[in-house]
Amino acid sequence: MAIREVRTIGDEVLGKISKPVKEVNERTLQIIEDMFETMYETGGVGIAAPQVGILKRIVCMDVGDGNQYLMINPEIIELSGEQTGMEGCLSVPGKRGQVTRANYAKVKAFNENMEEIIIEGEGLLARCIQHECDHLDGILYVTKVEGELVDKEVEEDEDEE
Ligand code: NI
Repeated sequence: MAIREVRTIGDEVLGKISKPVKEVNERTLQIIEDMFETMYETGGVGIAAPQVGILKRIVCMDVGDGNQYLMINPEIIELSGEQTGMEGCLSVPGKRGQVTRANYAKVKAFNENMEEIIIEGEGLLARCIQHECDHLDGILYVTKVEGELVDKEVEEDEDEE
């Protein structure tokens, strides 16, 4: 396992569209392991492969509900409701901003065995799904912020995505 360098805003890789994964091989599994390790090390609740410089449609999430979520080639198939709250991103260090997203998200994806899976969630998990899927299309949350980006307060223990 290895911690990978997290690309930050201004890095052109973050604005690119990631390619679908065709097969999961040893290298893919290594990337997934490294993504989880990097996410935990940096205090994130989600990470998308382009954030570590890999333009593949892979997302890892752990929002603290006791599950580790892996989404390969995720496709959001249902969104409903609305939530407005502060959001952060490992690729935009030290900043936060208010973003309105759907409160419920349902996504079709593949697991590490390339079996189709369905992940659905509300609240933080739904927010994280939408934020991470945006990364795969080269979209950062800063383009969706209502008002100004604000400095993250040190005492805040909020989540980075
Ligand atoms: Ni992010």
